[in-house]
Amino acid sequence: MSAWEDVDEYLAGTLLGEDEVLEQVLDENQAAGLPEIDVSPLQGALLTVLARAVAARRVLEVGTLGGYSTVHLARGLAPGGRVVTCELDPRHAEVARRNLERAGVADVVDVRVGPALDTLDALVAEGAAPFHLVFLDADKQGNPDYLERALRLVRPGSLIVGDNVVRDGRVADAGSDDPAVTGARRFLQALGEDPRLDATAVQTVGAKGWDGFAIAVVR
Ligand code: SAH
Ligand code: DHB
Ligand code: MG
Repeated sequence: MSAWEDVDEYLAGTLLGEDEVLEQVLDENQAAGLPEIDVSPLQGALLTVLARAVAARRVLEVGTLGGYSTVHLARGLAPGGRVVTCELDPRHAEVARRNLERAGVADVVDVRVGPALDTLDALVAEGAAPFHLVFLDADKQGNPDYLERALRLVRPGSLIVGDNVVRDGRVADAGSDDPAVTGARRFLQALGEDPRLDATAVQTVGAKGWDGFAIAVVR
């Protein structure tokens, strides 16, 4: 185990303690053959903290997988709050629905199956009430478009969080032709340039290696 993993384990043990529900979600994901690309326990706890910090009643997630991050977001909701989460793969969505049920949050989460861009466009078209926290964690090449749509679905004070913006440092490679890297770079550039946003990015190390979150708040 690397020192990063040791520290992650120490921090998670100290700050989070045991959580049988979340461990079961990861077991179910593994049994269903889902890729192990969920946020880490401490990163999930960050999502809960951010949802609480903005007293989120409406949360939008792009990229559900088995719902591990979704459970953390749902747990951070203010009373009466809801999470809308977008997932392309019906198999992933089915695993997520079961996990959300078992975690006791299925009644506050809408899993929308299909390309996230279609779901976001539908939310814009139907004049959906603003979201207070948006978590972008699907295909990274989609993030510039997801950001553009998200900006029509927020209000001042809303947070927009993007996962996986560092990817072992590859984000700094201006010559990369990896669509995940070019997507992350265009996403970060858009965050930095947009006068409606105050934005930052935080590099992370730990159980999930070296990566990072972009975090922006709507002015
Ligand atoms: N947020 C999850 C991990 C998401 S992994 C967690 O931390 O627990 C990324 C997910 O995005 C995968 O399930 C993948 O199927 C989904 N995805 C990929 N492209 C997508 C698209 N165009 N629209 C919606 N979901 C997509
Ligand atoms: C990948 C996607 C993620 O959302 C993540 O957190 C880690 C890896 C991937 O597609 O490889
Ligand atoms: Mg991710």
